[in-house]
Amino acid sequence: MRLDVYKIKGGRKLKGEVKISGAKNAALPIIVGSLLAEGKTILSNVPDLKDIRTILQVIEHLGAKTKFISSKNILEIEVRSIKNNQVPYDLVKTMRASIYVMGPLLAKVGEVDVSLPGGCAIGERPIDMHLNGFKKMGAKINLQHGYVKAKAKCLFGTTITMKKISVGTTANLMLAAVLAKGKTVLENAALEPDIIDLGHFLIKMGANITGLGTETIEIIGVKKLNPTKHRIIPDRIEAGTFLLAGAITRGDLKITKIIPEHLRALISILIEIGFFLDEGRNWVQIRPAKNLVGTIIKTKPYPGFPTDLQAPIMAFLITIPRVNVIIETIFENRFTHVAELRRMGADIIIEDRVAIIRGIKKLSSAPVMMPDLRAGAALIIAALGAKGETEIRRIYHADRGYENLVEKLSKLGAKIKREPEGQN
Ligand code: UD1
Repeated sequence: MRLDVYKIKGGRKLKGEVKISGAKNAALPIIVGSLLAEGKTILSNVPDLKDIRTILQVIEHLGAKTKFISSKNILEIEVRSIKNNQVPYDLVKTMRASIYVMGPLLAKVGEVDVSLPGGCAIGERPIDMHLNGFKKMGAKINLQHGYVKAKAKCLFGTTITMKKISVGTTANLMLAAVLAKGKTVLENAALEPDIIDLGHFLIKMGANITGLGTETIEIIGVKKLNPTKHRIIPDRIEAGTFLLAGAITRGDLKITKIIPEHLRALISILIEIGFFLDEGRNWVQIRPAKNLVGTIIKTKPYPGFPTDLQAPIMAFLITIPRVNVIIETIFENRFTHVAELRRMGADIIIEDRVAIIRGIKKLSSAPVMMPDLRAGAALIIAALGAKGETEIRRIYHADRGYENLVEKLSKLGAKIKREPEGQN
């Protein structure tokens, strides 16, 4: 396999306008949700990403036919029948979201075998809440040879109180409940925009869902769902990553085709730190600022500060010559970027889930490696703000979540190249 690297010459102020792609985390459960209806589903604003290609492989394996017109970000999914109900390890190991097939398959064909996702770079990431929810709806679950085997002649609506707010559990249980018998009440449900987008998609298919965007989602099962057309919402994490790239280079950047409300937690922090931000209906602009102050950030479920922007904002905070504190409350091991950032000169102390960052004026370039997707985004941001040329390896992690990254950054004036590893 050819491995590429990014080479980024830092220190250039990013300037101009960047259009944000569709949201990966909304697209994934929606693509899987298309399995619930027979016929052709048409999705637009689908980002061309490695994770999207993987989920397409998963649904094709189950019997769907897909046509992805990636130049237009349009995806057509044709479902006639489900031919297979097993998702092998090779597909699940590259992407945990493959577990989303459990909901629709249990509801539609009553049986599903999915390889158990292992741990990952950001922690153990169990699926106990998904499984407990399906059990409560009447499914029998067995773990055998690394596979979760679930069966249910019929799923029944019930009240499920989730012990933690979980995006994946909320989505998976919604995908099952729409075809279950009777009323399902999901308590302590996730409020993330990705969940609301999934809900809107399912409602267009004929599902009966109320309470989206609140802690209690009620779903009355229907007999049949129909294929539909749907536009995926903008990716708030990609948008946030670009805002932070603007912040670290003290650039003048307009981020467009977004929903500013979805970025409220980040926008508020940037204003508190001392930036001037303008916004309109579907854009936000960050302008250069001086005399920035330190901050304390705690990651929380939406509408709180997103854990997916924790690593990216840490990279930027290093360049404020103040003391900053980040508390990671969602995942237990999400500081894998810290060792790499230290190689670039960062002064960060980790105590359990707390990071104390003593700011410096400038990071300096160093060879670094992406430990995972969002830690990778942090390294890109750090490299854009650093002195000298940074070589970043294992960039296949960034391919999972950032569409046309080199083109988008280059258009803003960044000096970034993608090359095969080992080329000078
Ligand atoms: C999704 C996002 C990911 C984001 C995360 C939190 C996708 C494809 N991924 O991941 O980018 O970082 O939300 O916003 O949308 N948990 C359990 N048992 C379970 C499920 C989850 O204990 O069965 C815990 C997790 O370990 C974590 C917390 O619940 O501590 C939240 O995780 P969850 O929201 O489920 O994350 P994902 O859906 O996997």
